[in-house]
Amino acid sequence: MADYEQRDYDVLVIGAGGAGLRAAIEARTEGVSVGLVCKSLLGKAHTVMAEGGIAAAMGNVYPEDNWKVHFRDTMRGGKMINNWRMAQLHAQEAPDRVMELEEWGALFDRTADGRILQRDFGGHRYARLAHVGDRTGLEMIRTLQHRAVQSGIDVMMECKVYRLLKDDDGTVSGAVAYWRESGRFIVIRSKAVVLATGGVGKSWKITSNSWESTGDGHALAIWAGADMIDMEFVQFHPTGMVWPPSVRGLLVTEGVRGDGGVLRNRDGKRFMFDYIPPMFAAETADTEEEAERWYTDRQGARRPPDLLPRDEVARAINAEVKAGRGSPHGGVFLDIGSRRSADYIKRRLPSMYKQFKELADVDITVDPMEVGPTCHYIMGGVRVDAETAATTVPGLFAAGEVAGGMHGANRLGGNSLSDLVVFGRRAGLAAANYAKQRNLATFSDKLIEEITTAALSPFSSEGGENPYTIHAELQDMMQSLVGIIRTHDELVQAEEHLARFKERLGRVSIEGNRQFNPGWHMALDLESMLTVSTAVTMAALERKESRGGHTRDDYPQPDPELGKLNMVIRFSGEPPFRGEMSVTPEPIPEMPDELKALFEEQQH
Ligand code: FUM
Repeated sequence: MADYEQRDYDVLVIGAGGAGLRAAIEARTEGVSVGLVCKSLLGKAHTVMAEGGIAAAMGNVYPEDNWKVHFRDTMRGGKMINNWRMAQLHAQEAPDRVMELEEWGALFDRTADGRILQRDFGGHRYARLAHVGDRTGLEMIRTLQHRAVQSGIDVMMECKVYRLLKDDDGTVSGAVAYWRESGRFIVIRSKAVVLATGGVGKSWKITSNSWESTGDGHALAIWAGADMIDMEFVQFHPTGMVWPPSVRGLLVTEGVRGDGGVLRNRDGKRFMFDYIPPMFAAETADTEEEAERWYTDRQGARRPPDLLPRDEVARAINAEVKAGRGSPHGGVFLDIGSRRSADYIKRRLPSMYKQFKELADVDITVDPMEVGPTCHYIMGGVRVDAETAATTVPGLFAAGEVAGGMHGANRLGGNSLSDLVVFGRRAGLAAANYAKQRNLATFSDKLIEEITTAALSPFSSEGGENPYTIHAELQDMMQSLVGIIRTHDELVQAEEHLARFKERLGRVSIEGNRQFNPGWHMALDLESMLTVSTAVTMAALERKESRGGHTRDDYPQPDPELGKLNMVIRFSGEPPFRGEMSVTPEPIPEMPDELKALFEEQQH
């Protein structure tokens, strides 16, 4: 029997990015005990990669902005497949959450008259991203982290949750985890669990995500039998670095375009004018002169096409590169140096200035950046109740990137930071209330033994597969077969590859012992990555249309009938792979008439 320690909490929060921290703060405020587990060091979360700002209709720069416009932008950006109630709550509550961050110490940039400054971002009708230069996510994490620690939660750092535990009645009641440093197991009993584990980007080769984003929370939810929705919708942020190879994929904030940067191809042409989709034509400038007018006096209702939603811009860049009009290293050019003063750029975008100077030896105040799409975010995730963030499995809640529904087929930039705090708060509150009605469960030694034995199994085989080889091949495969543009045949090939990777993972062998053993950690992370990649591929095969972050070359148009459906992934069986995963199209909840009217109003 592997030795283990045990801890008990009312609420266990898994993940310490913006959503996890906000959930932990709220649950603690409700007076319950809270344990917060994070795979990495506290403060290191993908939240910091949302650099350009947090979207909230505060109306500080454009007084005519309000939640209804934000709601409408979010739904249109998500190609109308979002959970409307989540999008509504998000738009209504985001301004309060921003003010709360300020009260807790976040130092946002200011307008001339001292209010929180808001910047432009793609798909947002008005400048509405509250920001701290280009380090907004970092400031948010810093603020929430101080607040959470001050509130008296227990933080378990460098601790990976391996399996969720269920009570006899099927309620999620804790987790088995291990300390990455010592390899020792820890059984955490809790009356409610909040998943706030972020994204899945490490299954793709070119990604803005760092090593933690292996989809652990998505996989834990799948294995626990939770409904998953929208898994086919993966966001490729249009602007990641493309050169040098060691930093390929690293994010270049949309704030560059929000602050006046434009995209050009090899010939210096602003190609985005050729890619304005009919849905956005009425509000997008047709000519460079018109777009310039918008940038300079902001009087017109029309915006530059460089600020179309991310899915549109990423596809356009992809098309330019494919047509042979890309930059020398397979991207396009992002130019702000010829359009803004060096002082302005260094003040507004200090991290971008430094990032390019130090990593690529490019001075962005003078020369254009080379950029290309990078896997950044998954819109799909655990199906949740909009009010409480409760999943379809009792005792399990989910908030932030791991939850699905809020962003539909495509997320607008800046909407993730607001999502994290709006739904992190709701999840923490609901989990605390749920916990107050429950007792702690007890688990048999036999169950814990089975789980820890499974976790240690890679140590018992010899001369088998190397987990890093499987990971590298998985990333190549997902990038080329389940990337920005997909086809039936490629998705079928991807399923075949995934089946082989799973077999090979069963033969993986690890050298050394349990103390900080990265090969072992990778082997266990691969269980999550292969599970999530399978869910994405299955949903992508089933959605025979193109919509948002899911483009099918063989079905290039959106299908209005499919626009009424979620692809729901369900798994029954034993984690990680013993069982059946299914995909079922199910109707999305219908929007009430008063919200539908907001779209009609705009047309008039
Ligand atoms: O481009 C960015 O700064 C990223 C923001 C986001 O993903 O919301």
